[in-house]
Amino acid sequence: MEMYRISERDRRTATRCVQGTKIPIAGPSVQPIAQTSTFVFENQKEMLRAVTGKSEKNVYTRWTNPTTVNAQNKISALEGTDSTLLLSSGMAAISSTVMGLAKKGDRILSSDSIYGGTLHLFEDILPRNGIEVDFVEQNQFIDAIEDSKSEHRLCFFETPTNPALRLMDIKSVAEASRSAGLTSVIDNTFATPINQHPHQLGIDIVIHSATKYLGGHSDLIAGSVSGLTQQIGKIDNAARLLGGTIDPFASFLLERGIKTLAVRMEKHNSNAAFLAEELSRDSRIRRVYYPGLTSHPQHDIAKKQMDGFGGMLTIEIDGDLKATEIFVDSMELFLNAVSLGGVESLASIPVLTTHYGIDEGILREMNVSNSTVRLSVGIEDPNDLLYDIKNALDMAVQ
Ligand SMILES: Cc1ncc(COP(=O)(O)O)c(C=O)c1O
Repeated sequence: MEMYRISERDRRTATRCVQGTKIPIAGPSVQPIAQTSTFVFENQKEMLRAVTGKSEKNVYTRWTNPTTVNAQNKISALEGTDSTLLLSSGMAAISSTVMGLAKKGDRILSSDSIYGGTLHLFEDILPRNGIEVDFVEQNQFIDAIEDSKSEHRLCFFETPTNPALRLMDIKSVAEASRSAGLTSVIDNTFATPINQHPHQLGIDIVIHSATKYLGGHSDLIAGSVSGLTQQIGKIDNAARLLGGTIDPFASFLLERGIKTLAVRMEKHNSNAAFLAEELSRDSRIRRVYYPGLTSHPQHDIAKKQMDGFGGMLTIEIDGDLKATEIFVDSMELFLNAVSLGGVESLASIPVLTTHYGIDEGILREMNVSNSTVRLSVGIEDPNDLLYDIKNALDMAVQ
């Protein structure tokens, strides 16, 4: 009797999270951690073959490491890309990408609604190295791509944005970039490869702060870049010299974390949707930003390009900065911390943390005010989380 098998290519997302796409070979069920800086060769001839790329053997962990390759393959399987490069942080992934793809004299077209660290990198560090960045208001991004000049090398954007969860139509960005000859780069951290598939929609390069949902337990720092092998190769060449190498143990933790990504995201999505609905009915909250709410101005785009609406929820409480601080300090389950995407709920005030010191005009364009609180909704019981928020509102808003 012939046995029915699901081919490697047809494995569904939750299966890929646990097992990747490779059929396992006999040996340990969990790959041992290659916690080593260097690899030993039988002789000089074999070493030279590896150094010149004639064999695929590992030479030095700043170049390749089997534990890291294992995690990279799993992310490629989830993003649907040929290749993935893992680095020591999301910022290492972003900086290696732009240094690998752009050269002195090139310009980058960037949405202005991006993570604060990326904004500082683009504003302060890149121009010092001869790469200028043109920041564009989100609504004008696609027009700006269409009008781009020959010196524009790539475009960079996030959707949903941090922290106001505004959206960009990914397919339209991909199409406009392709016509204009730009390499399109997305930071897909907030959405995750469970909720959003930018490469399938035509985006060239997909970046994650793997510190967040991919790792999922707030116990590692990592970043990933996924795309076509040729482009990832260029980024890899830069990354090997820039040196933002991920430690093998972080790669191990990351690959382990991804095993539960699909189930975690289901719970993050449903918890955040529940809180968004409940908080929309509370008069002590001026605004709730969540792509899954029908009141979200871009809900139609969300429905079109997202399989789930994510675990991030941003609210604007009815009070000043002092009240906002009291609100965040009064919560017990939502821990007072930056970062996001872990199993535990976290709360932060963007103007005091990730977006500290950013120009007021830009903040306004991003829908960020002194009353804005960003909630990374964890996988705890949603009723406990609601109770925590309501108690804190009692303390902060009269
Ligand atoms: C959307 C986004 N991209 C990139 C980063 C940078 O990632 P990392 O802290 O892993 O360097 C962050 C960090 O918060 C982020 O929120």
